[in-house]
Formats: sequence, structure tokens, C-alpha cells
Amino acid sequence: MSVSYETQQMRDHNTLLSGKRVFVTTATQGLGQAIAVLFAQQGAHVVIGGRKPDKLKKALSQLQAIDPHSEGYLVDFTKGKEVEAVCNTLLEKQDGVDILVNVVGVNNQKVSHTYTDDEMYSMFESNFFNAFRAARSFIPAMLERGKGVIVNISSLHAIETMPNYFMYASTKGAMNAGTRAMALDYADKGIRVNAICPGLILSDFVVGYMDTLTDEYEKNAYRDMLYKMQPMKPGVSQDIAEAALFLASDLSSYITGQTLVVDGGASIKAHGV
Ligand SMILES: NC(=O)c1ccc[n+]([C@@H]2O[C@H](COP(=O)([O-])OP(=O)(O)OC[C@H]3O[C@@H](n4cnc5c(N)ncnc54)[C@H](OP(=O)(O)O)[C@@H]3O)[C@@H](O)[C@H]2O)c1
Repeated sequence: MSVSYETQQMRDHNTLLSGKRVFVTTATQGLGQAIAVLFAQQGAHVVIGGRKPDKLKKALSQLQAIDPHSEGYLVDFTKGKEVEAVCNTLLEKQDGVDILVNVVGVNNQKVSHTYTDDEMYSMFESNFFNAFRAARSFIPAMLERGKGVIVNISSLHAIETMPNYFMYASTKGAMNAGTRAMALDYADKGIRVNAICPGLILSDFVVGYMDTLTDEYEKNAYRDMLYKMQPMKPGVSQDIAEAALFLASDLSSYITGQTLVVDGGASIKAHGV
């Protein structure tokens, strides 16, 4: 038996998502915005979520400069009913999506035993349950088409973490395990489910936090920590957007249930060296 490469598909790497319907759950800043912009540049019809009208409007107008058909919906990812309402609207208007990118993730750093029930539930709602509700809404239409992709933005904290990250690490750990379990349910039905575990990324949140530090010593120490955390330089949002593009496109058509660590090598260092 011989293997022939004559039929190997040629791809246009500038239109990897041509005609794909995408929902990026939040894209008013940071990683979600970088993903939405890159996906639109790659030919996708992108719908974004956001909970603040002004920020949503601004992010949407940037997207519409790339694709005038881009849309935005106000949605708060701590509220399951709002998430389901947006997903139902997308099902009615355009038969759902080809690609779902779950981005929403919040942190609330505290020592483990001090989390209240409300804090626990709220973080699981926004970081895990509502990502699942969005997937649950779109999967039946994906099953009918025999095709669909889900990309979950998780975190390195799902794998290794730090003090005061109990709840964040737990929600992201659930996302990694859920990604694998969900991938198995649909692996033979054309739906792929993968996660990305970003390390430290200089997103709006991280840069914004540094800007709030007024003490020069504290600011320098924080900057120093950011640069020493990984052997490569700190990541930028586009690094994650490009990993998401790989997992969302047919470039990764034989990959499912994986957690792709994108961390500039942070997780391969021993003892912080
Ligand atoms: N940056 C990193 O170093 C890093 C590392 C590992 C994992 N991650 C993960 O990557 C994802 C994006 O992080 P990021 O760094 O881009 O964060 P970011 O700059 O803080 O952006 C978070 C986005 O989520 C939105 N959001 C938060 N809560 C929401 C809610 N209840 N409903 C709707 N939207 C909500 C925010 O909107 P508002 O503007 O309305 O608040 C904001 O647009 C998260 O899942 C995070 O856990 C990030």
C-alpha cells in the first residue's frame, strides 16, 4: 500500500474562516477582541457579546470596518437567561453558529476558605456554566449539519497555579475537563471541542492593572515579574488569537479534546528558574 499526497488540499491561509458564522462570547477588549478581529479578517461573519453598551458599540464599529455585517449583542455572562436569549436569537436568525469561542473569564483573588457561596456561584456562572449553556444551545444545529467547532479559552491556572487562585483555577480546571468530556461525546459527529490555556498575556486587563500602580517600586517589581514569568517575552493578545484561529479552522481538523498551552514556555520551567 502506498500513500498519495496528490490530493492533499491547498488552503488559502488568508481566508481560513471564509463564510463561517462565529460567536465570540465577549470581545469588547483583550483576548476576545483580538480573536474577533482576526476571525473577521479571515472571512468569518463574527457576532460578539459584551455587557457594557459603550464598549460593545466601540468594539463592534472596529469589527464592522472589516466586515460591515458583524453584529454585537448586549449580554451579561453571569446571567444564564441572557446568554440563552442571545443564543436563541442567533439560532432563529442564522441557524446558530459554525464556531463558538467561549472567552468570558473573571478572577477574584482570595485565600480559599474566604469565598462566599455567592462568589463561588458567580465565578462558575461566568467562567464555566454559561460557556456550557452557549455550547448546549448551538450543538443541536451543529449536529444536524454534522459540523461545528467550540474553542474554550481556559488558563494555565487549570494546570498549575498560585496562592489566592482557588476559585479561578477551579473554574478553569472544570473547563479543561469539560472540554475533553464534551469532545468525546461528539468526536464521531463532526463537532470538535478544544481549549486554549494562555499563560501571562499582556491583555488590556494586565496592562490596565499595571497602570493603576502608582508606587514606582511596586510598578517596577510587577513589570519585572511579568517579564521573568516565562522564558520568552510576555505574550500579546494576538498570540492567543492565532492559536484560536488554528483550533477554529480546518488546519486542526484532526484535533479534538485538547488543551493547547500558549504560555511562552512558562509551564516547562522548573523551580521558577
Ligand atoms: N490575560 C491573561 O493573561 C490571561 C491568561 C490566562 C487566561 N486568560 C483568560 O482569557 C479570557 C480573556 O481574558 P482577558 O485577559 O482578555 O481579560 P480582560 O481584558 O479582562 O477581558 C475580559 C472581558 O470579559 C468581559 N466580561 C467579564 N465579565 C463579563 C460578563 N459577566 N459578561 C460579559 N462580559 C464579561 C469583559 O467585559 P467588561 O469590559 O464589560 O468588563 C472583558 O471584555 C478569560 O477567560 C481569562 O480567564 C487570560
